[in-house]
Amino acid sequence: MVTPWQQRIAPIAVAVALLCAAAPAMAQSAAPPGASSCSGCHGPQPGAAVPSLEGLDPEAIVAAMEAFRSGQREATIMNRIAKGFSDEETRALAAWVSQKH
Ligand code: HEC
Repeated sequence: MVTPWQQRIAPIAVAVALLCAAAPAMAQSAAPPGASSCSGCHGPQPGAAVPSLEGLDPEAIVAAMEAFRSGQREATIMNRIAKGFSDEETRALAAWVSQKH
């Protein structure tokens, strides 16, 4: 027998179950912190002023970010952006932005 109380929480229970089922899939495709900001400038749009990072060697992206951070490579914007990420975050970013999503 289903009590009125059980009837009321049933939709909530279903919603929680669905969220739990979706969580692993969401975690798998989740971008590392900051990665979504990169595509705002480095878009895939053809003829973009800022080249897309997709398909670049992740090692090259890490090297570029390090050079921007240290000031070894001149930049207008990336020197400031690169300073916001640790080595570990930069590696995670590079792996992510070099891939097609
Ligand atoms: C506000 C726009 C903007 C954002 C956001 C941005 N970039 Fe850039 N990026 C540039 C510009 C402009 C250049 C060219 C160098 C310069 O002038 O700073 C560049 C250059 C680069 C390069 C060198 C590419 C090459 O051809 O060698 C890399 C790597 C790079 N960005 C990575 C990133 C990553 C990773 C992120 C996200 C954390 C990011 N950028 C976010 C504008 C941006």
